[in-house]
Amino acid sequence: MNRYLLPLSVLGTVAGGAVLLRDYVAGGACPSKATIHGKTVIVTGANTGIGKQTALELAKRGGNVILACRDMEKCEAAAKEIRGETLNHRVNARHLDLASLRSVREFATKILAEEEQVHVLVNNAAVMRCPHWTTEDGFEMQFGVNYLGHFLLTNLLLDKLKASAPSRIINLSSLAHVAGHIDFDDLNWEKRKYDTKAAYCQSKLAIVLFTKELSRRLQGTGVTVNALHPGVARTELGRHTGLHSSAFSSFMLGPIFWLLVKSPQLAAQPSTYLAVAEELEGVSGKYFDGLKEKAPAPEAEDEEVARRLWAESAHLVGLEMSHGSSVKGQPLPK
Ligand SMILES: NC(=O)c1ccc[n+]([C@@H]2O[C@H](COP(=O)([O-])OP(=O)(O)OC[C@H]3O[C@@H](n4cnc5c(N)ncnc54)[C@H](OP(=O)(O)O)[C@@H]3O)[C@@H](O)[C@H]2O)c1
Repeated sequence: MNRYLLPLSVLGTVAGGAVLLRDYVAGGACPSKATIHGKTVIVTGANTGIGKQTALELAKRGGNVILACRDMEKCEAAAKEIRGETLNHRVNARHLDLASLRSVREFATKILAEEEQVHVLVNNAAVMRCPHWTTEDGFEMQFGVNYLGHFLLTNLLLDKLKASAPSRIINLSSLAHVAGHIDFDDLNWEKRKYDTKAAYCQSKLAIVLFTKELSRRLQGTGVTVNALHPGVARTELGRHTGLHSSAFSSFMLGPIFWLLVKSPQLAAQPSTYLAVAEELEGVSGKYFDGLKEKAPAPEAEDEEVARRLWAESAHLVGLEMSHGSSVKGQPLPK
């Protein structure tokens, strides 16, 4: 019996350590118990992954939740599932394709007409490391969907968010922003050889710069805006990398993934926290890694880069130069 004691205790220590490491890496649950009855929330890309779980968490807390997705069949199915699980019937599906400025404008026009107030906007949707695709308006897909689509959407909803204040905007960035760089000579990847990884990093850096500049513009309005890295999560985000569907990744990397990768439910906690926590009232222009505020990459703190990116983006999506909601119409020719 004694000869099994040592290996058993080593095994127990390793297993215990692994669970502790996993909990540490995963971060915790949203510490706030705040409810949001009567508050209207929009979550983009809410048919799956972190967005769907965020919509579920916010529906559990009593919000009127709008799932904004490009595939209405998946969107309706997710909304139905969330209504069934939470018994909150104020959960609805709406069409939004961030790869189309026309669709963004149509979505915003409907929201402005149909919703009395919008208290929380979660800019969650993204595409990662796809091939060199372009959006309907000719923008590189990751820059177009992850950043420019959300830039336009947010600007179009700003007056409503201000009128509903206190209100909050939550932008899903990623730790990947630290490897990003804004190349003003070629924002749209027309001159350089396309690098799908660098394009994702650029789009996520753009989100943090947008958060910083928007927060400066929103001072005194009662609308806050923060960016976050949700942690690495088991979602469909890796669908274009091939890794998540390979047998190698399933069998060989499985245990590592178990240790280091969060469930979508855990990865939705930071968005939920930023959306509801009473202690974050008035906190704006910050970057959160999970539930903790952190300094983003140095380029993300560069006010000149943020101002220039705002001006270029406004030009690309056809917005007036102010931060108001007025839109010129069609994007400028590229
Ligand atoms: N998972 C991670 O490890 C991780 C790490 C860091 C940051 N993030 C960030 O967390 C956010 C959520 O990612 P996730 O992991 O939940 O990814 P996901 O499972 O792939 O979900 C992405 C969502 O975005 C939607 N979407 C893609 N293109 C769209 C478009 N043109 N218009 C509207 N919606 C579109 C997708 O819709 P379809 O299903 O129709 O494609 C889906 O609902 C993203 O911003 C991501 O960058 C994730």
